[in-house]
Amino acid sequence: MKKPVPFVPTPLPVVYRMLDLAGVEEGETVVDLGCGDGRILFTAAERYGARAVGYEIRPGLIEYIRRSAKVKRLDDLVKVVNADLRNASLDNADVITLYLTSDLLSQIRPRLEKALQHGTRIVSHGFKIPGLIPSEAEKRNGKIIYLYRRLEKI
Ligand SMILES: C[S@@+](CC[C@H](N)C(=O)[O-])C[C@H]1O[C@@H](n2cnc3c(N)ncnc32)[C@H](O)[C@@H]1O
Repeated sequence: MKKPVPFVPTPLPVVYRMLDLAGVEEGETVVDLGCGDGRILFTAAERYGARAVGYEIRPGLIEYIRRSAKVKRLDDLVKVVNADLRNASLDNADVITLYLTSDLLSQIRPRLEKALQHGTRIVSHGFKIPGLIPSEAEKRNGKIIYLYRRLEKI
């Protein structure tokens, strides 16, 4: 069996730019697939007033996010689901954020394509979604951020 993707946090300036590029608005739902320590979730809730849902499999990180959400009094806006991101519910996502390997992105590509067809914006840190053409790409802190606004295949 392959090793799971490790937890490597997105630097905060990159998080800010990802959410700005995606045009997150108050009341929208942001879904972070593989949410790590929840920094994208907390930024989406604190800076934009968005609802934020993360999927994560590492128990220590899930516990950390739940505790922080309570302390910050953001537990009504920030939720974390202890589940494999490949089974995530994407139906209500206005914005999906990603910092995953190309292999994992390939595995969830059909679900991402469906989300794009329903108007969801997708922003990916560091890795392109294999087979899809980004609407925009921008360098920040030496990493590229890819924004997908519509379904365009290579
Ligand atoms: C590179 S980190 C990114 C964390 C966060 N999204 C960020 O940008 O700061 C990837 C995260 O995905 C989680 N992860 C890896 N495979 C997963 C899976 N199949 N289901 C849920 N989470 C997963 C890892 O535990 C890790 O926390």
